[in-house]
Formats: sequence, structure tokens, C-alpha cells
Amino acid sequence: MIPRILLSCLLFAAVSLPSRAEDGHDLWLRYRADPAAATVSTLVTGTGSPTLDAAAAELVRGLRNVSGREPARAHDASGAGALMIGTPRSLPQLATLSLGLERAGSEGYVIRRLAIRGQTVTVIAANSDVGVLYGAFHFLRLVQTHQLADPVDIASAPRTKIRVLDHWDNLDRHVERGYAGESLWDWHKLPGWLDPRYTDYARACASIGINGAVLTNVNANATSLTPAYLQKAAALAGVFRPYGVRVYLTARFSAPIELGGLKTADPLDPAVRAWWKQKIDEIYTLIPDFGGFLVKANSEGQPGPQDYRRTHADGANMLAEALAPHAGIVMWRAFVYSHETPTDRAKQAYDEFVPLDGKFADNVLVQVKNGAIDFQPREPFHPLFGAMPKTPLMMEFQITKEYLGFATHLVYLGTLFEEALRSDTRVKGVGSTVAKVVDGDLQGYKLTGMAGVANVGVDRNWSGSHFDQANWYAFGRFAWDPEGSARAFAEEWTRLTFGNDPKVVAPVVAMMMGSREAAVDYMTPLGLHHLMGTGHHYGPAPWVNDLGRADWNPVYYHRADAGGIGFDRGPGGSNATAQYQKDVAAIFADRRKTPEQFLLWFHHVPWDYRMKSGRTLWDELVIHYTHGVQVVSQMRGTWAGLAPYVDAERHAQVAAFLAIQEQEAQWWRDACIAYFQSISQRPLPPGVTPPAHPLEYYRALAFPYAPGRS
Ligand code: GCU
Repeated sequence: MIPRILLSCLLFAAVSLPSRAEDGHDLWLRYRADPAAATVSTLVTGTGSPTLDAAAAELVRGLRNVSGREPARAHDASGAGALMIGTPRSLPQLATLSLGLERAGSEGYVIRRLAIRGQTVTVIAANSDVGVLYGAFHFLRLVQTHQLADPVDIASAPRTKIRVLDHWDNLDRHVERGYAGESLWDWHKLPGWLDPRYTDYARACASIGINGAVLTNVNANATSLTPAYLQKAAALAGVFRPYGVRVYLTARFSAPIELGGLKTADPLDPAVRAWWKQKIDEIYTLIPDFGGFLVKANSEGQPGPQDYRRTHADGANMLAEALAPHAGIVMWRAFVYSHETPTDRAKQAYDEFVPLDGKFADNVLVQVKNGAIDFQPREPFHPLFGAMPKTPLMMEFQITKEYLGFATHLVYLGTLFEEALRSDTRVKGVGSTVAKVVDGDLQGYKLTGMAGVANVGVDRNWSGSHFDQANWYAFGRFAWDPEGSARAFAEEWTRLTFGNDPKVVAPVVAMMMGSREAAVDYMTPLGLHHLMGTGHHYGPAPWVNDLGRADWNPVYYHRADAGGIGFDRGPGGSNATAQYQKDVAAIFADRRKTPEQFLLWFHHVPWDYRMKSGRTLWDELVIHYTHGVQVVSQMRGTWAGLAPYVDAERHAQVAAFLAIQEQEAQWWRDACIAYFQSISQRPLPPGVTPPAHPLEYYRALAFPYAPGRS
């Protein structure tokens, strides 16, 4: 007979073998063998449900792979090292323990270690099944990151209710602004074929608390509301349901005309209202827990209520009324701007929506991008946050890196999310952060939410690059806790993704934390914005001045001329600064007080203006561009040094992508310096290398097949 100790060593060795390639497919749920990780002897569960069963299955999968030992199963706490999971209903024994479950709310959980009959057991308890699932994932995170130190008393509950991924996925599987291959949703084979990836997608979402998926593009196609496509959406909903992920769809406002044969889509027309009511009832017969609609209306050519001289509130409320009996919601986007409106594009959403405050139905959220232009590498917070106390505003972040180097640039967005959420609106005094607006704390919103434009597709590693997985991860963690820490999330993700060795964790986290600032520097430093290539937004094109609409042209945004550079949004200019609370407005309106990172966002500044560093603005601009490239070169060096500690497959891809990033950062820097120098007519600061090519070279570059087109 083989001695037990030897047997467990053999077992451990077996699971330690590299049975699966490190190709990133497992995301942060890798569960690699780890002799240093805590173990569980027995998994104690009560009555099941699909969600509780998913929690138990995940724990078994994780613990078996990490410790090399499958926990025994039982229905009663027995023996040291047991792990009890459930709600007081599914496992009545939990009701007898003092766990402080009120801290968990309806979706959260507690994780506690306590003594039962003299034996130390661990408990994951919640008031709902999905809370248990979230707790199971948290527990597995603690196991893998070696954070399960006694005493354990964790209580966690999400601070927002709606935590959704917005998929800009078309029915032909093209993903608008997607850099990770085709859409995950194989519409043609649905509902007959349920790709196992749908389950893995839902697991990944649940592991970070995401509870909704908008399956279709905001630039909507009414076909997604036809019976055949609703069946397909229902099949996905069936896969996602045990993981607490609800399905939402985008509603094309003109669907009553396109599908219903009506002459109008006027939201006040009784036939239109009846059409939507019937359509929504039909959806709920197929998807009883359908989440609701996301709507882009009267924006970038999409139809909407204004086509009928109605307001955004009229449009949203029509849908809301039909969704309300089913507990569905409307997420109505505030990303609107019109070429017929001559004002600064940055002002238009505020101008249109603030007068509507208090006019939206209770089940409507207005979804606001983090900044007033469009997911730029850096924007000041959107002035709508704090300005609509009677209308729940939900945050919209872009996880896919449309303006931040697509999939090949290593840019960790956690710091961008954190910067936006920690911005102080001051509407109720100092400390009125965007996070507190979004989570309802500041203005008492009953509905709260956060949306992230998804960065996933069929690529083997889901996100197009290993490091872009961190942006999906960080989004979920911030949606759960808008006051969370970008650094803490980066560290968690790094440990889960590359292991706990401090030789890896410290340098990788440092790279991630500096990466977004580097991208700002080599693309759009000091408040510059929207300098990207036409249409695809790939690479620099600050010279473009011939597009159909003024506010599609980079020259509209940077306004460089012989006198200086930047967009005057102060009282002497567009006066966009006046949309902020008065103390904030006073800072942004004064170029001496404006943080330099936003200087050219709010001011047109002479080239020879003295910056805080003592340099002229022109020199400072060049130094920032150059510094951005230097940071990328340093990241390359850091990563090269990690070769001994990272598996060859992932190391090689990241290294190759960093090489691309370095080339493209250099391209950005050189093209922008060449262009702006042609206007500033100033020499480069001493010691700074001139652009590699003349301006004409950069202007002539064309990329007809750049990915992610709209
Ligand atoms: C950006 C993006 C579009 C998208 C739009 C939106 O403009 O480039 O592809 O449709 O945002 O958020 O609606």
C-alpha cells in the first residue's frame, strides 16, 4: 500500500505538471498548483440551486487544482478545516451562528473562520445564493493570493446595483472598437449550440461581481428584437443565469417602424407605445429575468425621440413604463452631440440633460461617460456628475482601448477609473466625489450602476492581450466598490495571473501603475485630446482638418496656432467650465489654478507660457512626449528581466507587444512633435532627439484595415 503522505505528494506532482498551456485562456481563474496555499478538508453544503451548485463546483475545481486534493463533501460541519457555504435557508446550521450577515445585504457575503464544537471551520455565508457565489470567488482569491490569515472576518457587499458589461457586438460578430477577435456570441449557431465559453464568460463575470451583459451594440440593429434573435438571447440568458448575470439588449428607437411597420416611432404615439409594450412582454415570456434596455438615441445618427420633437425623457419613459411591471430598467445614454448645435461638443450632454433632471421614470438610469468628450486617455470628470440630483446617473467606462493603443499597448486602466471616481464634484462640499454620486451615497439615488464597454472576443486570451484582462478585472472590482484602489486591484490581478513571487509582483504592479500616464504622455499630454487617426482612431493624426463635421477634426480640439495651443473653455471661450460646481469652475477657469494635466483641455496657452517646472509650455510638451516613450522602453526592460519567472508563452507575447508599443509610442511622439513644431516654430529643447521623419511622412501613413471600425 502506498503511504498516504506519498500518495498526496504524487497527486500534487500530477496536478503540478503543466497540463494546460499558459495561453491566458484561464484568465485570473487559473487555480495553478500551489503547495503554500491553504487547504480545505471538507466542503459542507446544504440544499442546492443552480447558483449554489455553481459556487460549490467552482470551489471544488479551484481547491482541487490548487492543493492537489479534492475536498470531501458533507452536509454537516465535521472536522477541522471544513468550509461551510450557503444561506441560512440552504444550510440552516448557518442561522445558529453569529455571522453578522446583515453586513452582506442582498448580494454580498461574509467569510468567517470560527470554532464549531471545538473545531476551526470557515464559513462563506450570504442572504442570497448569488452572494454565496461571490463569496466563493473571494475565498478562492484569498487562497490563491495567500491572504487567508487568521482571524478571518470579511464582509463585502456591492456598492452599486447594476454592474454591466456593454458589448458593442454586431449580429455579424464584428465588434465595434473590439481588438480581441470576433464577438463571443455566435448568433448563427445559437440557440442550438451553446459554446462552453459562454459559461466561462459568466464565471469570469461573476468572479468579479459583474451581474449583467448588454449583448448588442449601442449602434443598434432592430433585428436583435425579432423572435428568432430573442430566442438566441434567451439561450445565452439560460447559460448566464446561475452566475447571476442578467441579459440586456440595446433598443433601436425606430424598431416600431422597422419591425412593426408603423409610420412613426414617436414615443407619445399610442400605437408606438403599444408596440413596445407587446415587444417587451414577448421578451419576458422568453427571458423572465431580462434586465432591460440600453439606448443610444439622437447621437451619431441613431434615431431617437428628438426626431419627433420629444425629449430624451419622453423616449426613456415610454420604454420604462413597459419594462416596469417586469422590474426591467432603461439605461439611457447621455453621449449626445449634434453637428447642428454650434456649441462646444464638451457642453452638449450637460445642456441637454440637466433641464430633464427629475423628469425620468424611477426605473431609468442615465448612463454618462467618465468625461465629456469620448473615453480619451485623460479627461476631466464629466460635469453631469453631481448636476442631476434627481436622476440616477450611472458611470460608463470604456474597457476596450479604442483611444489607448488597442490591444498591443500595455495600459492598465485601473488608474484611469480611480482618477475619475475620486474626482471631487464638490456639489455638496469637499469630498463629493464622483464615486459617491455613482454609488448613490451623495444624492440618495435608489438605482445605481456602472457600465464598462467590454474588451472581450474570441481570441484565446479573451481580451486580445494578457494585460488587457486586468482592465476587465479592475472594472468589475471598481463596479463593486467605486472607492476601491487601482493599486490593490492590480496587485490582486498580478498575483492571480502570474503568481505570488514578489520578484514578479512588485515590478509588474509598478509597470501597470505607471502605464496609463505613459500613454497620456506619448499621445495627448497636458490636456490635449482627440488627436487620433480618422475613423479607426489608430495612431496620431493631429493635422486632420477636413472632416465633414468640425468636431470630428483633431484641429477642433487642439486649436494650435502661431500664438499657442489648447481649447479655451473658460469664460472667455466656450465657458464649459461654468458647467462645474462654482469652486471647481473657478479652478478650471483660471489657467494658473488648473492642474497642468488638464491645462490644454481648458485653456489656449501661449507657447512660451511658463509651466510650474520653469520650462516653457512648448518645451514641456516635448518633454512629456519624450518621457512617455522612455517609460515604455523601461517597461520593456523590466519585462525582459522577468523572463526567468514568467512562463515562456505569455512572456513572449507580452514582450512582442511591448516592442510594438515602443515603436508606436515613438511614432506618436515623433508625429505630434513634427506637427506641432510646424506651428509653434520653436526649436526642440537642448538634448532632445528630433523626430525620425519629416511631417509629410507621418501624414502620408494610411491604415485602411485597422481593426475595430465603427
Ligand atoms: C465613440 C466610438 C463609437 C461609439 C460611440 C458611442 O464615438 O468611436 O464607435 O459608437 O463612441 O459611445 O456611442
